[in-house]
Amino acid sequence: MKKLVRISLIAACAIAAPLSMAQTSAKLKVGLMLPYTGTYASLGNAIENGFRLYLAEKGGKLSGREIEFIKVDDESDPSKATDNVNKLIKRDNVDVLVGTVHSGVAMAMAKVAKDTGTILIVPNAGADVVTGAMCAPNIFRSSFTNWQPGYAMGEVVAKKGHKKVVTITWKYAAGDESVNGFKESFEKAGGKVVKELTLPFPNVEFQALLTEIAATKPDAVYTFFSGGGAVKFVKDYAAAGLKKSIPLYGPGFLTDGTLEAQGAAAEGLLTTLHYADSLGTARDNAFRLAYAKTYKLQPDVFAVQGYDAAQMLGIGLAAVKGDISKRAGFVSAIEKAKIDSPRGAFTLSKSHNPVQDIYLRQVVGNENRFVSVISKALADPARGCKM
Ligand code: PHB
Repeated sequence: MKKLVRISLIAACAIAAPLSMAQTSAKLKVGLMLPYTGTYASLGNAIENGFRLYLAEKGGKLSGREIEFIKVDDESDPSKATDNVNKLIKRDNVDVLVGTVHSGVAMAMAKVAKDTGTILIVPNAGADVVTGAMCAPNIFRSSFTNWQPGYAMGEVVAKKGHKKVVTITWKYAAGDESVNGFKESFEKAGGKVVKELTLPFPNVEFQALLTEIAATKPDAVYTFFSGGGAVKFVKDYAAAGLKKSIPLYGPGFLTDGTLEAQGAAAEGLLTTLHYADSLGTARDNAFRLAYAKTYKLQPDVFAVQGYDAAQMLGIGLAAVKGDISKRAGFVSAIEKAKIDSPRGAFTLSKSHNPVQDIYLRQVVGNENRFVSVISKALADPARGCKM
């Protein structure tokens, strides 16, 4: 090698080395876009708690990188979502986006993430399309699709011998898709959804619709509500005298993180979800104990999803020694991982959604008690995903 070339090569390396070291020792910026106000506020807090718990267990760093959080209250408002996510990406230069709870907001996040190539980990919102037609190498979900627990519940309700069901939910993607999942398996098994009642998100004026349910006299009701809305719905359903005569079923969001507020109105309810309060595994017991000690609160499914979002980020970063610019290595490590979740270990489908067991649970006191595994390793059909 000519002397001059050799010297300039050495010089180039000397410049390059500190640069890449700076890149991997600087704080990793995580944009946390979650609801901190409104009907889903408690869900946003639980997700953040779960995320921070995993980080604390790793000594506050992932692959040597401290995490800087930039938080946005998305208010579960889809009309503000695109601006909010653009600010995180363009103004705050986040390395990773984590969010959110509401499907309408998550779809806006996924669109911007897809357009800009920003890594997005969705720690709740079940919008089918996020790991369906909008699926992308940089978009991951640590939670579920709305279809998953709905589909599992359709089989349960059919097996109970119910034929005629009325559904009631908020009119937006999560409610619609949850009902569609339920309807798909319930009608395949010979049942019939005779009426689909809705009200705008996040309204809680249920009275007229409860009167309509009473007049329709179905065998059962299937419902998607969550957070503050779920508390009010379960109480109103019982207060209207319907709980005794028309059994109420739903995905477990109806009773997760809500039982203290729902009290006796929730007792005995059967729901389907990828988590339960009494799994009794060593992994879940350790998680629950650590969460309760740290936050003086019992964890719920939302806390688990936040915890697992942090685990997924940790797995990706470990594969690239903290250098998230090494995109291919980061993505393929998460794709191949078996994620050691408190819910039970899960893998991701080709569309990056958890393939997971769905549990039947029953409310006993302040617990969503495990009843059985109702659907083993259930994968969302990922309709429209080309990846
Ligand atoms: C959603 O909007 O996708 C959503 C919100 C709350 C839940 C579950 C799903 O508990």
